[in-house]
Amino acid sequence: MENPNDSGKTIHKGTEFAHDRADDRSKAVPPNEHEGPPEVREKDDRMRRKLLVVDDDPYLTTQLRKLLESDELSVDTVSSAQEALTALGETDYSVLITDLKMPGMGGMELIREVAQRRVLVTTIVTTGFGSIDRVVEAMRLGAYDFLTKPIDPNNLKLVMDRALKKRALQDEVLRLRQQLKESYSFNSIISKNPKMHGIFELIRHIAGTKSTVLIEGETGTGKELIAKAVHYASEERQGSLVAINCAALPENLLESELFGHEKGSFTSADARRKGRFELADKGTIFLDEIGDISQAMQAKLLRVLQEKRFERVGGHESIEVDVRVVAATNKNLEKEVKEGRFREDLFYRLNVIKVDVPPLRERPEDIPLLVTHFLNKYARPNDPPKKMAPDAMERLLVYRWPGNVRELENAIERSSVTTVGDTINPDKLPARITGISEEEKPRYEIDLQHPLPYYLKEATEQIEKQYIRKALEKSRGNVGRCAELCGLSRRSVSGKISQYEIDKYPFKST
Ligand SMILES: Nc1ncnc2c1ncn2[C@@H]1O[C@H](COP(=O)(O)OP(=O)(O)OP(=O)(O)O)[C@@H](O)[C@H]1O
Ligand SMILES: [Mg+2]
Repeated sequence: MENPNDSGKTIHKGTEFAHDRADDRSKAVPPNEHEGPPEVREKDDRMRRKLLVVDDDPYLTTQLRKLLESDELSVDTVSSAQEALTALGETDYSVLITDLKMPGMGGMELIREVAQRRVLVTTIVTTGFGSIDRVVEAMRLGAYDFLTKPIDPNNLKLVMDRALKKRALQDEVLRLRQQLKESYSFNSIISKNPKMHGIFELIRHIAGTKSTVLIEGETGTGKELIAKAVHYASEERQGSLVAINCAALPENLLESELFGHEKGSFTSADARRKGRFELADKGTIFLDEIGDISQAMQAKLLRVLQEKRFERVGGHESIEVDVRVVAATNKNLEKEVKEGRFREDLFYRLNVIKVDVPPLRERPEDIPLLVTHFLNKYARPNDPPKKMAPDAMERLLVYRWPGNVRELENAIERSSVTTVGDTINPDKLPARITGISEEEKPRYEIDLQHPLPYYLKEATEQIEKQYIRKALEKSRGNVGRCAELCGLSRRSVSGKISQYEIDKYPFKST
């Protein structure tokens, strides 16, 4: 309904009386009173979603409002894309319905702008018959659905319902993401485990210092993430974080990578080059896989840590740097020292602040959190994230995770891609995790509520079904031959085929 006092404004606000009713209710029901009768809660104006309709045809916008406005949905209308952009900037709309062809800025451009400004709104385009190419283009740019004119009210309701459902899902994802960010995440390290929170606390505590940090933990536990967090927690550090994997390079290359080299210092050194220590000046150097360096490199590193100075390979000039050293290893350095593979003095230099990252199997409470996080991360751009079926989640919770978070991340990425529907079932998880292999017989979750013969009967049926299927496959759907293979009478096999509702026709075509 247009407000006559509002004629200067271009946005046509939805029926005012709906707001009035909401106000009346708020007198009767305190705003934070959630226990009210459901019909009162449902009509609460705060729960009302907002729709913006843009079309230069005032008849159409009025019609759409009449059809769609309800206690759950308020409808605003504007007559140009420019006005729509202004309105979208000011109000949080759930859904936008826009015409494609309008004087001035067109609908396509509007969709492009919406995407570019990252406005969170689900867009539906309206279009005349015969312009399917433009619809495809609009959807490519980010529109969610389309309506052809003249608009069929039934189809309109369907499309709107779908769009609102999608919005609700997206909002839920955003809410979860926000929650993850606020309570369970530190510099993108997700955890609610007390030991991990102890690490976060420690990182905050040492942020202002230059002390050397040694991170120990199994592969894939997040050591690199922690090293990054140490660097980024120290805001006063102006330099960069420079990482080097000490295990990846042969000794002579590692030396020149770390300390740089002078021109001609070795055959391929055709120019002077700065090393990682120099590049990390006033910042952090991350020495990954420190447990794998040779004795000679250990001696060289020790000197740098003691004196904070070094020479480039082939050079004499002594270079001084102001660097925080963070080292990581998946070995137990103390044990390496005891067994004579790692210098004790270097170990003590590195071990000023020690971070022990617990393996994932010691923090199972993090598994569901990480699963949600990775499901969101690996959702397709325009789809809601997949869900993990409860029995699949159970598997994830009991698995031992030798590859820790990295292994979990890979499993979720793979299963998200290979799952067609919206739910990931155990069969989409890697076999080593679920323990289900193709050959393996079906497993039973034994529940003592059922007597043993119950399970025996179930197992027999499973085997019968499998056997008959295989025999049908071999006999190409021929029941007589199948019965021979089963060593049963034809009648008995026919009986079982219908009892188990086995469809024999697919076997005939193979
Ligand atoms: N707590 C966590 N929250 C979110 N992502 C995590 C977490 N821990 C690890 N990851 C992810 O798991 C993967 C492995 O982490 P990272 O590389 O930090 O492990 P690492 O301990 O350095 O492993 P490696 O010993 O094999 O070098 C990365 O993709 C990282 O983003
Ligand atoms: Mg690493």
